[in-house]
Amino acid sequence: MSAEAFHIEVASDMVAAVASDAEPLPEIVVETRGLDTWYGDFQALRKVNLSAAKGRITAIIGPSGCGKSTLLRAINRMNDLVPGYRTSGEILLEGVPAPTDPAGVIALRRRVGMLFQRPNPFPMSIFDNVAYGLRLERRRSRRDLEEPVERALQRAGLWEEVKDRLERSALGLSGGQQQRLCLARSLAVEPQVILMDEPTSSLDPIATLRVEELMREFRDEVTIIIVTHNMQQAARVSDVTAFMLMGEGRAGELVEINRTRELFNRPQDRRTEDYITGRFG
Ligand SMILES: Nc1ncnc2c1ncn2[C@@H]1O[C@H](COP(=O)(O)OP(=O)(O)O)[C@@H](O)[C@H]1O
Ligand SMILES: [Mg+2]
Repeated sequence: MSAEAFHIEVASDMVAAVASDAEPLPEIVVETRGLDTWYGDFQALRKVNLSAAKGRITAIIGPSGCGKSTLLRAINRMNDLVPGYRTSGEILLEGVPAPTDPAGVIALRRRVGMLFQRPNPFPMSIFDNVAYGLRLERRRSRRDLEEPVERALQRAGLWEEVKDRLERSALGLSGGQQQRLCLARSLAVEPQVILMDEPTSSLDPIATLRVEELMREFRDEVTIIIVTHNMQQAARVSDVTAFMLMGEGRAGELVEINRTRELFNRPQDRRTEDYITGRFG
């Protein structure tokens, strides 16, 4: 069986498993179909079929260099300006091809937020960081902004810590607070999706657990895809896990995607089993 056929079978098993638990069928919010990407001559992703459903946290695991970041950046079209970068295949948002024209990409970024390995607050006040995306939408008056800024900070679990210093520079916050601020900045524009690329890898264990707890709190409203090299984190936080690996020519392939519990307890593919049991490489 080809990797693709295998994937489709596993993906439909996943849907069947959900159906047999008498839960409603998941609504797929992000989907890639046969996604290939190249950096010049180097193929970084091959025929990747990923789907992420509403109300679920989808984790992507796999060894360094297997294309996890490339996949997130492809979804958010962040690589479009990299010289020599190109893709083929489909990227769908709520079943519709993601826009590729410049105006469409701006709209796309509003729907699809992103968090990075290192928090990247803008060099401005805490308030202005969270208000940033709202101001781009021309909601400019301070009064119009106060309520959504507070709500976003509440959802990111930061409000109590910063409500008395909203005018201070965001750069004075701790790393964990900065990452939650970036989360608030994303949440403020009410995105449908937040892509997280190893969002806790620069945080201490307590700050990490705080971010994981928040993810569980808003996963019903925002579809989350999290790349993590930490399998324990994937097991703790996610509902569905995708395992990626470098295949022929070092191109990243999605080996298996399944409910997290299944993927860790009953991996379908030998390569997944080798990786999760540490027999990899
Ligand atoms: N801008 C780029 N130009 C050329 N090659 C890149 C670029 N970004 C990533 N790559 C290559 O693509 C492959 C996948 O990288 P990446 O997506 O960062 O993997 P991961 O996030 O899983 O560690 C690696 O071989 C990496 O060197
Ligand atoms: Mg990466």
